[in-house]
Amino acid sequence: MGTVDGARRGYATISGRGLDWDSVPMRLFQKAKRLGTWDPQAIDFSRDSSDWAAMTTLERDFILRTVSLFQAGEEGVTTDLLPLIMAVAQEGRLEEEIFLTSFLWEEAKHVELFRRWLDTVAAAHEDLSRFLTPSYSHLFLVELPSALGRLKDDPSAIAQIRAAVTYNMVIEGVLAETGYHGFRQSLESSGRLPGLLEAIRLIARDESRHIRYGVFLLNRLINATPGGWDVMNVRMNELLGPALSVVTEFWDAYDETNPPFGQRMQTYIDFASSQFDKRMKVLERDRGKSLDEIERSALADLAQEEAAVAVRG
Ligand code: MN
Ligand code: FE2
Repeated sequence: MGTVDGARRGYATISGRGLDWDSVPMRLFQKAKRLGTWDPQAIDFSRDSSDWAAMTTLERDFILRTVSLFQAGEEGVTTDLLPLIMAVAQEGRLEEEIFLTSFLWEEAKHVELFRRWLDTVAAAHEDLSRFLTPSYSHLFLVELPSALGRLKDDPSAIAQIRAAVTYNMVIEGVLAETGYHGFRQSLESSGRLPGLLEAIRLIARDESRHIRYGVFLLNRLINATPGGWDVMNVRMNELLGPALSVVTEFWDAYDETNPPFGQRMQTYIDFASSQFDKRMKVLERDRGKSLDEIERSALADLAQEEAAVAVRG
């Protein structure tokens, strides 16, 4: 329930409206309470410390560079999310606001997790900002805070679309997913740094809920806003180039003939591009749908995902 002249008109949950239990955000909130409450302090880093000590200089450089970018990125998404929560809350979307409390809390835990690893395993107390490349800095220091910060003065649907594309589709949906995927690939084969690897699995699972909400939010906004589709499309294409450059600039630090952990840059580029295509496909599939239809297809996606998890065990 919104406010008029600073006064509240009433409370949704005692108005007969109640809570929409079957809405996408409430379903995601239930999942967040089951899966998002792991404690960064409880992850065992003892093996990580001995593994870290035994690594080559090149391997350590790769890990430290990657973790530094994760650390900065998690701080960025934690710091910049609030204006979106405000915009959604002001519209009286209580279920979404409830889900967003878990979203911000989880991002805060991700910040905690990486800093704990840097402190206790790598003892990396020096300035790590040397790892931020031009494209990374452009996306995280300029595009993300400006797209989200704009909502403080302009919470319009168009500004929300630009913010959600930047935050959920590109930063989370392309960059974070690619980073976590690549990182798991490089470590799983060698069996080293099991604490960090376990944490990344938990973080990636949290991120999948955030991205799912982002897709729902965008679908809702795009299909209710004249011109919304084009704004989304332009914004996606504005950010795709810099997002892929984050990957190539990262790999500039390494020699293709002697890559850390036998990794190849092209694998990351391909994965990032396929993530981008995957996000676009869902938006295309749901283009022109009503909110009811969007909810139904999002809930079907969720159910399908849960069934796949149950089969994998
Ligand atoms: Mn995160
Ligand atoms: Fe996230």
